[in-house]
Amino acid sequence: MSRMKRLPIGILGSGKGSNCRAILERIRLGDLAAEARLVISDVLDAPILDMAREFGVANAYLPPGKFRTRLELEIEVQLVQMLRDAGVELVVLAGFMRVLHEPMLTAFPRRIINIHPSLLPKFPGLEAWKQALVAGETVTGCTVHYVDERIDHGQLLAQEEVKILPNDTAESLHARIQVIEHELYSAVIAEFCEKYGESSQQVGG
Ligand code: GRF
Repeated sequence: MSRMKRLPIGILGSGKGSNCRAILERIRLGDLAAEARLVISDVLDAPILDMAREFGVANAYLPPGKFRTRLELEIEVQLVQMLRDAGVELVVLAGFMRVLHEPMLTAFPRRIINIHPSLLPKFPGLEAWKQALVAGETVTGCTVHYVDERIDHGQLLAQEEVKILPNDTAESLHARIQVIEHELYSAVIAEFCEKYGESSQQVGG
C-alpha cells in the first residue's frame, strides 16, 4: 500500500506551547502527516516541555548561554546537531523567544518557520496584539513566515485576519488570535508535509 512519508518536525518554544499542543493533537488524530521528533526549549521549566512529555515526544532543555535574545554560537551549533540527530526536516518555532543566526539558517534553509500574532510586516516584536490595539487598528491577525536573521521577518507563507472588536481587551484579542494561529500553523505545516512527504511502498502496511 502506498503511503506518504510523515514529515519529521522539531518544535522550539520558550513558553506555554498552545501552538505546540495544537500541532501534537492533530498529529495524534492523524490529521497532520508529520511526526514530532523533538521539542526543545531554552527555558528549563517551560510548559511546552511538559506538553512534549504528555504526548510522549522526546524533549530537551537547551541552556541558552549568556545572551538575552539569541543563543551563544556554540549552543546554536549544538542545536543544529540535536535537530539533525533527530532527523528533523522542518523546524517549527512556536513561541521561541530567541533570534536564530547562521548555524541554524545555513543548516535548515527554507526549513524554519515561525508564527507571529500580527499581519506582518505590521507589528513585529513583542505583544503584537497590544501594538495593534494601541495603534487603533480595526483588523489584525496572524502570519506564518520563513525565518531569517531578523525578528519576525522573512518571506510570508500565510496570513489570516482577525477583527478587532470595540470592547476588545489585550487578553480577549490575543485569545481570539491564538485560536486562528492553531488552525493556520497546522495548515501551513500540512502543506510542507504534502510537498516534502515521499510516496513509498509499505509491505503489509
Ligand atoms: C504565539 O502567539 C505566537 O504567535 C508567538 O508566540 C506565541 C506563542 O504562544 N510567536 P504559544 O506558546 O504557542 O501558546
